[in-house]
Amino acid sequence: MATVATDASGISESQNAAAAEDGRDVVFSVRDLWKVFGPKAERVPGDASLTGLSADEVRERTGCTPAVREVSFDVHKGEVFVVMGLSGSGKSTLVRCLTRLIEPTGGKLEIDGEDVLAMDKSALRDLRRHRASMVFQHFGLLPHRTVLDNVAYGLEIQGMGKAERRARAQEMVDKVGLSGLEKRRPGQLSGGQQQRVGLARALAVDPEVLLFDEPFSALDPLIRRDMQEEVVRLHREEGRTMVFITHDLSEALLLGDRIALMRDGEIVQLGTPEEIVGSPADDYVRDFVRDVPREQVLTVRRAMRPAEAGEADEGPALAPDTLVGHAIEAVARSGGAARVVENGRCLGVVDHACLLNVVAGIEREEVAA
Ligand SMILES: Nc1ncnc2c1ncn2[C@@H]1O[C@H](COP(=O)(O)OP(=O)(O)OP(=O)(O)O)[C@@H](O)[C@H]1O
Ligand SMILES: [Mg+2]
Repeated sequence: MATVATDASGISESQNAAAAEDGRDVVFSVRDLWKVFGPKAERVPGDASLTGLSADEVRERTGCTPAVREVSFDVHKGEVFVVMGLSGSGKSTLVRCLTRLIEPTGGKLEIDGEDVLAMDKSALRDLRRHRASMVFQHFGLLPHRTVLDNVAYGLEIQGMGKAERRARAQEMVDKVGLSGLEKRRPGQLSGGQQQRVGLARALAVDPEVLLFDEPFSALDPLIRRDMQEEVVRLHREEGRTMVFITHDLSEALLLGDRIALMRDGEIVQLGTPEEIVGSPADDYVRDFVRDVPREQVLTVRRAMRPAEAGEADEGPALAPDTLVGHAIEAVARSGGAARVVENGRCLGVVDHACLLNVVAGIEREEVAA
């Protein structure tokens, strides 16, 4: 078996190199990050007799809670990086560690190549005020201030003059669809509107990264849907980098370019929605994604089979990232196979059987066997 050089985090050098070659800039780089709560927490990460144990076992032996355990990942510029997991899996702790609202117990953490763990107070303040803005679940608005002044708050503590910050805040209020409500106080707004204020406030400082900790979980489903679409729109229009925490799988699949699935403080799988749903890393992940409508996540690139004689030249053409759900329609209409075409080249074909197998969760290798 070929061995791959890895750094301490288990991420291979070739993977790191690949990210650099892609020209994808890394915003946050996280390596072997630990957060342990409890007495003498710093001894836990370095203790090899503890690192292999489950969170419960560590708690029994040491009285400490390992909330984040040896977590490594990169957040690339312009992506929506989702952290998903059940309650207590360590999501909030992880995202708070990124700006040291919670102090990590061990590991490495960089933003744009700068060592976050080495930052002094004033550099940290700058990080939180200008570079990474957080949107919280419970809005965190100032009750006695108007909408406009809440949105302007971050600019005010940056020291921006009144006229300028109000003009900028107005722009953000308009952007998130709250025009006309500038003079209201938070208590006079619905939950969805309050969260739009929270979003506008985070956007006002024009941060490099937006950090969301379950921002929509207090909202009812229809308003939640609205807010999700708002985030998708903002991301599409501005390409802003986002780290988005949720325990809601459909939200993760809708928003995430990549998803890190956490369990007991560890990342059990990190991949695109299609990778997570199509190739779950273990039974835990498989169970998590079991009820996902696969045809709405998986693409024909995964479903296709090699073209047989003549097939490469006829039938409807589909792009490789066409969802299986859409391909079903095309294949049903044409009655035969459809071609998967990229840059004029036929990569393969999808017919009734391939598409049905994907929906049923049967992999091609299983069919062949
Ligand atoms: N200040 C603290 N002291 C001790 N333990 C803590 C502290 N904060 C969090 N924990 C523990 O760390 C673990 C991870 O908590 P965290 O809040 O990060 O989970 P979460 O994934 O955000 O959960 P939720 O979905 O409920 O918000 C939990 O076991 C929690 O009890
Ligand atoms: Mg949380």
